[in-house]
Amino acid sequence: MSDPSDVALRAASPWWRPDPGTSLVIRGGSRLVGAYPISGAKNAVLPLMVSALLTPHLVTLHNVPASLDVAVLSALLQRLGVRLNWSGGGTTLSLTLCADHMHPGRIERDLVGRMRASVLLLGAVLARCGEASLPMPGGDAIGLRGIDFHVAGLRAMGAEVDLSGGMIQATARRGLHGAEIDLPQPSVGATENLLLAAVLATGQSVIRNAAREPEIADLARCLTAMGARIAGVDTDVLTVQGGRPLTGAVHTVMPDRIELGTIACAAAVTDGEVFLDHARADVLGAAGPLLASAGVVLEEAGTGLIARRATAGLVGIDLQTRPYPGFATDLQSPVMAMLATAKGASAITETIFEQRFGHVDELRKMGANIAVHGRTAWVRGVECLTGARVTATDVRAAAALVLAGLGAKGDTVLDGLEHLDRGYDRMAEKLVGCGAVITRSTV
Ligand code: EPU
Repeated sequence: MSDPSDVALRAASPWWRPDPGTSLVIRGGSRLVGAYPISGAKNAVLPLMVSALLTPHLVTLHNVPASLDVAVLSALLQRLGVRLNWSGGGTTLSLTLCADHMHPGRIERDLVGRMRASVLLLGAVLARCGEASLPMPGGDAIGLRGIDFHVAGLRAMGAEVDLSGGMIQATARRGLHGAEIDLPQPSVGATENLLLAAVLATGQSVIRNAAREPEIADLARCLTAMGARIAGVDTDVLTVQGGRPLTGAVHTVMPDRIELGTIACAAAVTDGEVFLDHARADVLGAAGPLLASAGVVLEEAGTGLIARRATAGLVGIDLQTRPYPGFATDLQSPVMAMLATAKGASAITETIFEQRFGHVDELRKMGANIAVHGRTAWVRGVECLTGARVTATDVRAAAALVLAGLGAKGDTVLDGLEHLDRGYDRMAEKLVGCGAVITRSTV
C-alpha cells in the first residue's frame, strides 16, 4: 500500500483498490469507437455525500462514481461516525449514508491533504453539531484556493471561527441563524458550504452572487427532497428557509459534464465515434457551442450523445474560463490538449485559478506549440503530437494528457496517476472498451 491512509480508504470503500500501477502507457493512433458510460459527477457527489450529515435519516445516492475522492470523503465521513453501506458495482454503485450517531470527530490531516474539497464538511458539521474542527486545506497545484468566503459566510450566520495553527475551529454554541450573504465572486465550494449550513440554520438565509454550476442545483434538489425549502435554484440568488428537521432522501447523482466534454474531445482527436451513455448536453453551458465551433459534433441519441469530429476537421478557437454558464475551467486542459493539433491558432485564457497551466510543459514534451503569456496560453496547432513520458499535476491535467496520448504517434507514459483516479471512475478502462490501447504499468 502506498499511503497509510489507504487503510482508512479500504475500510470506508471496499471497492477501492490502491493504484494497481504507477503509470499508464497509452499507445496513440487508435480510433475510439464504441459506448463510453459517463459516470456520476465527481463535483456533484462530494457535496451530496456531505448533505447526509444534516439528518439522522438515511440518504441513498445512486450513480456514485468509484473515484479516489469519493473514497477519501467516505473515510472522512466514517471518522465523523457516519455509517456507510455500499451496494451494486461497476457503473451502478450506490451508497447509503446514516448519520444518526455522528459527532464533530477529529478530521486528520492525512485525509484532508488528499482532497481539498474536505472543506465542504465545515458548514454541515457546524450546523449539525454546533462545532467543527478541520485542518486548513491550503492551496494546491492549480492556485491559492482561499476559504475566506466560506468563513465570512459562516461568521455572518453566527459562527465563531478561529484560523490558527493550521486548523479551522468553528463553533456555534447557540446554533446558526439565517443571514444575508453576498459572495465576492461566485465560488462553487462556498455556495455549497453555506447552502448546507443554511438549511439547518434558523430563519431565512439569502446567498447572493451564488455560483450556478449544475452540481449546485443537483445538491439543492437532494436537499429539497430531504425537506429543505430552497428558492432560486439555478439562479445566482438562493433563498433558504432554514431550521426544519430534515428527512432522508434517495437521489441519483447527475452525470459528469466534465467527463462528457473530455471524452467528446478524445473522440474528435482520434477521428472516432463514441456514444456517451447517460450524457446530457444541457449542462455544458458555453462549452457546448465552443466545442461545436472547434469541430466537435455532439448529437442527441437515445440515452446519451454521440460524439465525433466534424467533416471539416478541428480548428483553433479562443476561449476564456468563466463561472457557469461560462466555459468550465475543468475543461480547459483537455480542450487545450485537443486544440494542440487543430488547424490554426487558439487563445485560451484561464480566469478562475492562478496556476492551471501545469499541463502545458507536458504537452510541449509531446511536441505541442504553446506559449503562455500571463493567464493566456497561445496554442498553434501542429500536425501531430508524439508520445513522451509526462506527469499529471492535477485531476484535469491528467485527463488532458490521456487525451493527448490517444491522439499522439507512439507511446505516452503518464505518471501521477493518483490525479486521474481522484476524479474519474475507471477512465482508462472505459476508453479501452472503446478500442484505446492503454495499460497500467509499474515501470
Ligand atoms: N476563492 C477564494 N476564496 C474562497 C473561495 C474561492 O478566493 O473562499 C477563489 C478560488 O481561489 C478560485 C475562485 O474563487 O480562484 C473560484 O473557486 P471555487 O470556490 O468556485 O472553486 P472550488 O469550490 O474550490 C470547485 C470544483 C473545482 C472547479 C471549481 C470551479 C469541487 C470539489 N471542486 O472548486 O473542481 O474547478 O469549483 O468550477 O467541486 C476539479 O474537479 O478538478 C476541480 C478543481
